[in-house]
Amino acid sequence: MIDAPTFRSTMGRFATGVTILTARDDSGRDHGMTVSAFCSVSLDPPRVLCCVERSADMYPVITEAERFAVNILTTAQEAISRRFAEERDDRFDGLGYTRGVTGCVLLDDILAYVECDVAARYDGGDHLIVLGDVVAASAADGRPLLYYRGGYAQMER
Ligand SMILES: Cc1cc2nc3c(=O)[nH]c(=O)nc-3n(C[C@H](O)[C@H](O)[C@H](O)COP(=O)(O)O)c2cc1C
Repeated sequence: MIDAPTFRSTMGRFATGVTILTARDDSGRDHGMTVSAFCSVSLDPPRVLCCVERSADMYPVITEAERFAVNILTTAQEAISRRFAEERDDRFDGLGYTRGVTGCVLLDDILAYVECDVAARYDGGDHLIVLGDVVAASAADGRPLLYYRGGYAQMER
């Protein structure tokens, strides 16, 4: 078995975008967290997945939620990525947002979003894999925020 530092440094070579996963709990309260473990799975039907750590506040929410949204961040939104990865209760305070067809938060000025109905949940070790049927999506022009080798990066082109 490989050790955790080897695994981390290996997977850190796989550059990703940065997203904010949003969902609502039973009482309608909004939750959000920074997620880079997000990818496209299927075109027909359109499906995506994201992975949520079992120790995260989002875990009990996404275990019960029927819908979620994934907000894809621009290079101008590094502070939002940091905010949604820090322990704080007021993550949405002072941020502009609307609600999509799922009722989930769609942050202002993002590069793109998908909204999903939860299609399935799978065991992913210390993470939960959440598969979503995409019910709405939209893309704007801009530059993506990237995450690479444990730090933020920007695309040259
Ligand atoms: C760039 C970046 C990407 C992250 N990607 C994920 C991810 O894909 N899945 C995950 O469970 N946590 C991920 N995290 C960590 C969570 O955002 C963070 O642990 C979580 O928000 C902790 O706060 P909470 O438990 O109070 O919600 C990422 C953090 C950063 C900074």
